[in-house]
Amino acid sequence: MSVSGASSSLRTFSSRVWGKVPYHGLVASRKPLSAVRGYRDTGKPRYPGPGKPARGRVVDLRSDTVTKPGPAMRRAMAEAEVGDDVMGEDPSVNELQQIAADMFRMEAALFVPSGTMSNLIAVMVHCRERGDEMIVGDLSHLHIYEQGGSAQLAGVHATTATTLPDGSFDLDQLDSKIRHGYPDPHYPRTRLICVENTHNIKGGRVLPLTFLQEVRALADRSGLSVHMDGARVMNAAVAQRVPPSTILQHTHTVSVCLSKGLGAPVGTILAGPRDFISQAVRCRKALGGGMRQAGILAAAGKLALLEMVDRLEEDHRNAKTFAQALLDCDPPLFAVDMAAVETNILRFRLKEPSLSPAEFCDRMGQVWEGEEAALGQGIRVLMYPYFGNSVRAVWHLGISPEDTQLAVQKMQFVASQFLNEKVKAQ
Ligand SMILES: Cc1ncc(COP(=O)(O)O)c(C=O)c1O
Repeated sequence: MSVSGASSSLRTFSSRVWGKVPYHGLVASRKPLSAVRGYRDTGKPRYPGPGKPARGRVVDLRSDTVTKPGPAMRRAMAEAEVGDDVMGEDPSVNELQQIAADMFRMEAALFVPSGTMSNLIAVMVHCRERGDEMIVGDLSHLHIYEQGGSAQLAGVHATTATTLPDGSFDLDQLDSKIRHGYPDPHYPRTRLICVENTHNIKGGRVLPLTFLQEVRALADRSGLSVHMDGARVMNAAVAQRVPPSTILQHTHTVSVCLSKGLGAPVGTILAGPRDFISQAVRCRKALGGGMRQAGILAAAGKLALLEMVDRLEEDHRNAKTFAQALLDCDPPLFAVDMAAVETNILRFRLKEPSLSPAEFCDRMGQVWEGEEAALGQGIRVLMYPYFGNSVRAVWHLGISPEDTQLAVQKMQFVASQFLNEKVKAQ
């Protein structure tokens, strides 16, 4: 059903949604409450963070990087034993690295400040000679969002493989990207294949284990290494109901972020063979990532790995709940592929061309006139317009099932608001 001229379905929608809340058609004037009350600051960023003094309960779905350490994590940080980690003497860092190596079934692991640095170090170690090349997904975080650090700082050339909807590559295309003509002096030397799991831009997609197995077989046949940007590989493991080592058996090295859904404030683990990690220690220092009493951070990382993995399932459940509510919205404003909602990242599209992702996010992020009367309180749901004309929302430990329901209510309010305006304008 098209949205225009949808007044009958609008009634259905309204009675279903608004039957639950004391609200009757107030949304027709679309004014944010702040504007109504005269304190809207138009000089502020378009999507202000929750730190800004604005009315309304905030449900922050911008990213799983916004998580804050809870009391137990803060206590562990305060009580951590520390030493100089550049000298290898921080017991908490050493313990975290051992826990990670054991969990990932890798020979060794290294604690580094960020996922970006971790991926860069991996590229630097795998591609050590001038003229080395890596193959990356054209929509990978490494290629799109890391400022081209592998070229800028490591001098490594990248060739891209097309990212398929599930985050994987076509294996024939991948094979064709390998410089089989080397050492013909026209070609760089392919050294590395990078994969991303879960895949961020593709909406938290989990790489199939068979794909990983095939990539590894291709790499082995061609004498290449496989690095996984596993910033959210624990989400993949939870979604596939396997230990992370089942996934990582197909890769030589992995980068795992502790500071996303796992809730640590800082830090990433880079893991792989012992000689790889020895080289990685050198690169980390060259990049300024050698930290001293880093045990304060490692203590949080330890809790993240040992105690925060199982709860990721709740994030996946909440993401599905919201996705289903988008699908159930009547009339249908949203396009969602439920089969693609595998973990904590949801990407969806708006079916109505006159409602752009940016405008939808804007409407979700502000409290509107009549909203408090309709919903019992103002609700600000923060999410981003995203790649390919979509919207991205990310669930994490700061978002409960109740918060998810608030986000659903707000989405329904915004949908009704938009449709009322549409009908009025006709
Ligand atoms: C898939 C992926 N890889 C790497 C990173 C980089 O992590 P960091 O922000 O710690 O540098 C991110 C961050 O969002 C990510 O989503």
